[in-house]
Amino acid sequence: MKKILLLGSGELGKEFVIAAQRLGQHVVACDSYAGAPAMQVADESEVFSMLDGDALDAAVEKHHPDTIVCEIEAIRTERLYDYEKQGIHVVPSARAVNFTMNRKAIRDLAAKDLGLKTARYFYARTFQELQEAAAQIGFPCVVKPLMSSSGKGQSVVRGAEDLEHAFNYGMEGSRGDVKELIIEEFIDFDYEITLLTVTQAEGRPTLFCPPIGHVQKNGDYRESFQPRAMKPEHLREAERMAKAVTEALSGAGIWGVEFFVSEKNGVYFSELSPRPHDTGMVTLAGTQNFNEFELHCRAALGLPVPCVKLLRKGASAVVLSGIDAASMAGPFPQYRGVERTCEEDADIRIFGKPTVRMNRRMGVVVVSGEQDADLDVLRDKAKRLASYVEVF
Ligand SMILES: Nc1ncnc2c1ncn2[C@@H]1O[C@H](COP(=O)(O)OP(=O)(O)OP(=O)(O)O)[C@@H](O)[C@H]1O
Ligand SMILES: [Mg+2]
Repeated sequence: MKKILLLGSGELGKEFVIAAQRLGQHVVACDSYAGAPAMQVADESEVFSMLDGDALDAAVEKHHPDTIVCEIEAIRTERLYDYEKQGIHVVPSARAVNFTMNRKAIRDLAAKDLGLKTARYFYARTFQELQEAAAQIGFPCVVKPLMSSSGKGQSVVRGAEDLEHAFNYGMEGSRGDVKELIIEEFIDFDYEITLLTVTQAEGRPTLFCPPIGHVQKNGDYRESFQPRAMKPEHLREAERMAKAVTEALSGAGIWGVEFFVSEKNGVYFSELSPRPHDTGMVTLAGTQNFNEFELHCRAALGLPVPCVKLLRKGASAVVLSGIDAASMAGPFPQYRGVERTCEEDADIRIFGKPTVRMNRRMGVVVVSGEQDADLDVLRDKAKRLASYVEVF
């Protein structure tokens, strides 16, 4: 049995804990607030700011974990190199977690070092730099903070008159001590995918889950479905890029590698997470022989994953809060409409978050069908069933 320190205790962490415990592991779940989803099912928990390096050191010192698994990006990730030196296994690796928490490191690695196709991009620290970069890229373009999550601070700029707003919005949405933006060419893609990629301990092959299609609104995922039909050459290209970038980052685990696909211009690498991906919650519908959390856990523990098989088609749709905390009827969020959702053949996960914010993700509905099912029907069903649920 291994002791796993889980940094970040949201809904993805919760499913990871369940997967780890099914393999007999002991998990200490950490986050900045008490009662976080993963804490509800973990063996132990700790509440502290994971951006505080000393607090992180203290938790590591106290628990002596064998393994550290990061569920989020807002972590003082430089310290992970020290833990790795101390012999603690960081999943997938300190390098991977450190590179991916800042868009700059990962984008330069992908575009410059590995030569992968990405949107053209520049960085900007000042409004003037942003104006100069926009002049080179043209409009529309996309402005994002180097460090943020779930679309915070991100905007599409249609013309020069929107730049100032994009600058201020991006700077305000920046997390931590990095106040810098990336400005990218807007890719007019036909669709986007997450390619869940499983890297394994030395000598075992890298595996790819069937591609997951998804739809984002305001930089946040609303629905996902699997498998996203793709031209074989586009899928091969995405797999080649995912293999290259995960190999360069090193370590075993699951990765959510995001791509934009244009039928005309081909496949663009966008970004990646060295951990289960929110759009991958569709695998909770039983679409695969192992869901993404089980795959991450196996790979992290060094257990072989011989193959990933698609068993069923599936779709997921998120349940968002339509209210803020001040409007809650009671001390905890409550849910209306779950019964109606359950009347149909589908599954719902309520994450059990102790409080709400406007548009906070509170749950997900997953549906599945036979391999010959119509994916559009499954997608519509997932969205319809999710829409029945109301947070109050
Ligand atoms: N250059 C671009 N062209 C077109 N659309 C884009 C571009 N960059 C981002 N988008 C859209 O915005 C969504 C979110 O962007 P991105 O994945 O870069 O950030 P994020 O998911 O908010 O970051 P994080 O994963 O850290 O939360 C993308 O999935 C895509 O739909
Ligand atoms: Mg993304």
